[in-house]
Amino acid sequence: MPTPIDRIWPSPAAALDDDALLDATRFPDEGTWMRVNFISSLDGAATRDGASGGLGDAADRRLFALLRRAADVVLVGAGTLRDEEYDGLRVDDASVAWREAAGMPAHPALAMISRGLSVDPDSSLFVDAPVRPIVYTVSSAPDARREALQPVADVVTVGETDADPRRIRDDLTARGLRRIHAEGGPHVFGALLAAGVVDALHLTLAPTLEAGDAGRICRGETQGRLPTAARLETVLRAGDELLLHYLLG
Ligand SMILES: NC(=O)c1ccc[n+]([C@@H]2O[C@H](COP(=O)([O-])OP(=O)(O)OC[C@H]3O[C@@H](n4cnc5c(N)ncnc54)[C@H](OP(=O)(O)O)[C@@H]3O)[C@@H](O)[C@H]2O)c1
Repeated sequence: MPTPIDRIWPSPAAALDDDALLDATRFPDEGTWMRVNFISSLDGAATRDGASGGLGDAADRRLFALLRRAADVVLVGAGTLRDEEYDGLRVDDASVAWREAAGMPAHPALAMISRGLSVDPDSSLFVDAPVRPIVYTVSSAPDARREALQPVADVVTVGETDADPRRIRDDLTARGLRRIHAEGGPHVFGALLAAGVVDALHLTLAPTLEAGDAGRICRGETQGRLPTAARLETVLRAGDELLLHYLLG
């Protein structure tokens, strides 16, 4: 029995099934679309004990999995990959069946963003990947690390000292990966927002107050582009938790 998630806006509906949740969060039928998915406490903490997992409950995890299900590619910053200990990206069996019925590959691709490339090419992230990962990096990245990753990933240079989010979006589009689902983290979200390439935000508001010094969901230099206005698209609710969908820009 899945954790109940209700829609409370715009049209109330109780206990949405997976198809209804997928419909409420569907990508546009055409064109490139980049959305980001985060969880935050009521007082703006993006982590508990250094990871986002502590903030999430079963409803958040349910939606998290469904948001991945419909994506061509999951885009993640190297900090999140390290801190959240990502493995090779695989969706669950129900998602594989759904994707194959929709004519999609069984699993989404994983694309990461890194300057320093301090990720282990022998890690499960690469070894267990069902789809060859993509690594977006910069020309100043260490040559030895770049060479070490080339056998296990497509390593693509998209800037000198900062990866340019517009080039990432264009490269993904050219690969046919137009449904882009970004899972953060905060510095990557800041860079994506400053470049104006994010179309939507899926934000879970966890019903907790964390205090402490945890960071927020979006960080870094604004380059004069922020703040970004957000328009409320859908409000879902699971108990005391809100699952919000905003359109950006
Ligand atoms: N609440 C949530 O939903 C949520 C979601 C995701 C993550 N988090 C949390 O956020 C924390 C990690 O934060 P973070 O900001 O370090 O994560 P992040 O944004 O995933 O990673 C930052 C790293 O990404 C690379 N990077 C970012 N912008 C870049 C650019 N323009 N060009 C090239 N490389 C770039 C750099 O990698 P290199 O260091 O390899 O050069 C940088 O150190 C963790 O505690 C994680 O649990 C929370």
